[in-house]
Amino acid sequence: MHVDVEPRAFYFGTPVLLLSTLSEDGSTNIAPLSCAWWLNTSCLLGIGSRSKTVQNLRRSGKCVITLPSEDLVETIGHLALSSGVFPLPACKAESSFAYIADKFGHVGLHSTPSSLVRPARVTECPVQLEARGKGAKPIAPRPASAPRRMKTATDDGPGPKAAPAATVDGPARATDNSRSMKESERSAGVRLWLRQEGDAWFGLAERAERLVAAAVGRTREEAARVLSGCLSPGLPSRSGEGSSEFAEATARMLAAIEAGDERGKRLELADECLGEPDAAVFRLAAAIPLGYASSYGRIAAAAGTIAREVGRLMARNPLYPIVPCHRVVGSDYALVGYRGMTSGSDLDDKLARLRAEARGHQDELVLEAARGLVVFPVERVIARAQRGRSGREDGQLSLW
Ligand SMILES: Cc1cc2nc3c(=O)[nH]c(=O)nc-3n(C[C@H](O)[C@H](O)[C@H](O)COP(=O)(O)O)c2cc1C
Repeated sequence: MHVDVEPRAFYFGTPVLLLSTLSEDGSTNIAPLSCAWWLNTSCLLGIGSRSKTVQNLRRSGKCVITLPSEDLVETIGHLALSSGVFPLPACKAESSFAYIADKFGHVGLHSTPSSLVRPARVTECPVQLEARGKGAKPIAPRPASAPRRMKTATDDGPGPKAAPAATVDGPARATDNSRSMKESERSAGVRLWLRQEGDAWFGLAERAERLVAAAVGRTREEAARVLSGCLSPGLPSRSGEGSSEFAEATARMLAAIEAGDERGKRLELADECLGEPDAAVFRLAAAIPLGYASSYGRIAAAAGTIAREVGRLMARNPLYPIVPCHRVVGSDYALVGYRGMTSGSDLDDKLARLRAEARGHQDELVLEAARGLVVFPVERVIARAQRGRSGREDGQLSLW
């Protein structure tokens, strides 16, 4: 039961609270904070300047302060190394933070719409205070000459480390050795890029100029969200900085593929991030030429896995549009599934894409460069769909 109350003072002694703020896309971001000091019915919060929470507060000014009960300790611990900022600032990426778009879902919390503000309340928290910001005061950076503790402190790391934005802007005090180690770690890590080409935004995750994931969105935020969903949880990544010829060229290639021009398509995968046989499956699916399709089973046989596994990988396709998952169908040319759905408008979309790609081919092709994968004209899939037969007509999925 939810009861609205208006106490005269809010002298809460909670060691940690959860702050809900509104992100640009209308979703609610939550962050645990322990730096909170109550003054009558106001609360002074100390928040790292590079957090999503501060970005959101600056933009919308509204929030919900929720006080968790002790049974949520573990849940809050799981939020510790997550941030809603995309791409992650370098300081967070280096501290093993991960970008999490949906923190509620990530830790199994639920949201309840608020009464007075747009950010949602955290259903599981017994005390929920809908609030508006009164102002923000940056804490001045620590002077360059001031002594500084070693690099474990970041501007917005968890708990006590979170202390003030003061620690960010001072000069790094690492020794030459530690600096060169950092550089080598950096060059080996996964870097995330967002680039606009025409009306679309492209996200790419790259390790040493080989692709880990790609994504397309109508907006920067959408591309970022899709890209983050393509990355394995816990994969350390950081935002790319400055210019990158690789990112520019790849974004241009992805835009051309989206526009139907696959002449410049190439796929150099970071196999060590994807693992086998997944990387082999992605490579094989990427090799299916425009106007052709292949089956889950044929790809599985060539990659050394099972058809259902190919279905799972195509459903989450972390390399769209370079991997044309819509060109993978059942052995009897049934559409089977698309975007993880096995019926409804998603299948209609899959069919529409294949229709747009029909080039009037008649014969099967053997792709020697792709482990001898056999591909067939999409017209066969279209004809099968026109006959009105569904992929489930025999009561089973025809992946092979
Ligand atoms: C128990 C706990 C207490 C925290 N206290 C604070 C705090 O007082 N101030 C702060 O800026 N960050 C604090 N953090 C870290 C933030 O939650 C963290 O920086 C998070 O990335 C912010 O998320 P956001 O970038 O999505 O806003 C705390 C984290 C935990 C787990």
